[in-house]
Amino acid sequence: MAANIKGVILAGGLGTRLKPLTDITNKHLLPVFDRPMIFHPLEKMAEAGIKEVMLVTGGNNAGDFLRLIGDGRSFGIRRLQYTYQKGEGGIAQALGLAEEFAEGQKILVFLGDNIILDSMKPYADQFRKQAQGSMVLLKEMHDPKAYGVPVFKGTRIVRIDEKPTHPASPYAVIGAYFYDPNVFKIIKTLKPSKRGELEITDVNNAYLRKGRMKHGILKGPWADAGESLESWFAANLLMRDLRQGK
Ligand code: DAU
Repeated sequence: MAANIKGVILAGGLGTRLKPLTDITNKHLLPVFDRPMIFHPLEKMAEAGIKEVMLVTGGNNAGDFLRLIGDGRSFGIRRLQYTYQKGEGGIAQALGLAEEFAEGQKILVFLGDNIILDSMKPYADQFRKQAQGSMVLLKEMHDPKAYGVPVFKGTRIVRIDEKPTHPASPYAVIGAYFYDPNVFKIIKTLKPSKRGELEITDVNNAYLRKGRMKHGILKGPWADAGESLESWFAANLLMRDLRQGK
């Protein structure tokens, strides 16, 4: 039987790049067209066939997630757990809080501000069969310097640069990451970056150094709704097109 995958949705952080919208609520509770942002990663988990999910939140209005989402069953999730990240120590720190929940199983980590139109199911099915390691997803774009950017040797990724001034390729590493249980050991070895955070890119580079990372390339549109007010606005337009079948 193919290995089970559990889901971790990261919805902490202070959302400072979307101020003043985030002054009185959590970024992931803001609307993206007709629904709160956080509905999207929950739906993507269900689409990937993932039934057990941990939601890591933090900052303002953490209790509102419970009021909005409840036990997650209306999204097709059988077991939804919540935890709280104090401060804004980075994506990898937030993920570290899910170690006990993961119970040594594979995980799909979804950043709560990412909007991905491609189905997650084929990628999850592929990772269920992958013996070990990790898998990241890429999106080709004109200017990826606000993101993690892969550096290629031939068709192989050799390194990921976080927000490089001069991107080495026209791809962004998007916020959906598949990991084996070694991810939690890697997180314990990380040191804070220049922005004072435990970086998910450092986790990914640790997998790359061991030659244990595969990648997929998205065909459909992608938006990082938390990168800037402009990207939040673009995510709203993308979701409107999706709803209206454009
Ligand atoms: O969107 C994809 C990009 O996400 C990747 O290309 C980058 O490599 C990766 O570092 C990340 O970049 P950002 O700087 O855009 O990440 P951001 O700080 O916006 O955090 C993304 C989500 O992670 C956010 O919606 C909430 C969650 N988060 C973030 C931090 C810093 C937490 O749960 N806790 C945190 O401490």
